Amino acid sequence: MFKKTLFPTLIMATAASISHAQAADLTISCGAVGAELQLCQEGVRAWEEKTGHSVDVVSTPNSSTERLSLYQQILSANSTDIDIMQIDVVWPGLLANHLLDLREVLGDAAGEGHFDTIIENNTIDGRLVAMPWFTDAGVLYYRKDLLEKHGHDVPDTWEQLTETARVIRNAERAEGSERMQGFVFQGRAYEGLTVNALEWVASHGGGTIVDSDGEITIDNPRAAAALDLAASWIGDISPNGVLNYTEEEARGVFQGGNAVFMRNWPYAWALAQSEDSEVRGKVGVTQLPYSGENNSAAGLGGWNLAVSRYSENPELAVDLVAFLTGDEEQKRRAIAGAYNPTLESLYQDEEVLEAVPFFGDLYETFVNAVARPSAPTGDAYGRVSNAFFSAAHDVLSGNKTGEQAVSDLDRDLSRVKRRNW
Ligand code: GLC
Repeated sequence: MFKKTLFPTLIMATAASISHAQAADLTISCGAVGAELQLCQEGVRAWEEKTGHSVDVVSTPNSSTERLSLYQQILSANSTDIDIMQIDVVWPGLLANHLLDLREVLGDAAGEGHFDTIIENNTIDGRLVAMPWFTDAGVLYYRKDLLEKHGHDVPDTWEQLTETARVIRNAERAEGSERMQGFVFQGRAYEGLTVNALEWVASHGGGTIVDSDGEITIDNPRAAAALDLAASWIGDISPNGVLNYTEEEARGVFQGGNAVFMRNWPYAWALAQSEDSEVRGKVGVTQLPYSGENNSAAGLGGWNLAVSRYSENPELAVDLVAFLTGDEEQKRRAIAGAYNPTLESLYQDEEVLEAVPFFGDLYETFVNAVARPSAPTGDAYGRVSNAFFSAAHDVLSGNKTGEQAVSDLDRDLSRVKRRNW
């Protein structure tokens, strides 16, 4: 088993070298955020030992936006180079035509025990195009020790978070922690900002960009206010650099002990609690804040395993997918890496709950997470998300007010909608 990294600019050359060098029976592409690649390799190794087959593991870029364009290039070339792909929860509609219906191999029982909503999400025109591997929802990480030291409660609202972050950041800096930040999140112009900004907007009562009937709802004062609030953080409780942060940059600052609050996904828990973490034992996890009378909104994320229609070994590929998404692997990944199982029963498993207590405490957050509008916009979702994260980034960067941005976005999305959904 060897490891390669694929990046869009190198794709043609890399793809060619894979086919020549390939001795393995299968190739799987996995993410490499945090401990993701290692966990994937360990799971694959267990299957290799069990079956005697060999698998090549290929890593992909961390940004979901970059991964998507890489996969689109590979699939639109009908390439046989990658058999199994780790695909984002917002991609089934975009990629379905290139993916195998897993029920053709696994039968009708495929998907049993997994959350129905994810199976529905992965079923396009009656075809189950990916098996759920792990689910994700945005959560708020906070420094228990600093809140206690400075006498502050865990914030319920965005306004409280803003104030608490500012007070503690200033006090810590005055005591010599010059690099202390108040709040870090994912502010780069990419898919991660789509989720962060959706969380701000939805928790202000400003909707989900496009509703489940396909109506564009983003041009409203609550959405504008949510974006303006986030813009006010930049250069105050959040560093200017957050405009270029993905998950891993935010985690780096928080895990290095340099932020009071962080928005991230559950995976950051296992790493923040690891032996070499500066914040081990000092971290709490809770639901994201809301504003006014509205509810907290955790953006729904997650990843699935799909088999390419161009695979030369489809049945074997499906067997590996079934193994990796099965009970044993999901449990191992939950305990070792805090990856949320998609198998409902694992949320009652004592070893899982001991390793990641908030899987129990925040269960409602996970099952009620707010979806990005990938279902109603179908294969136009990529364009919708790009337009939304660009608009949000414009507001964060001070190029537009929230009001201007949502009005321009409404116009842009209406144009996309006329042609696509
Ligand atoms: C996480 C989520 C995924 C999302 C991505 C954005 O990986 O699981 O759904 O698209 O973050 O950065």
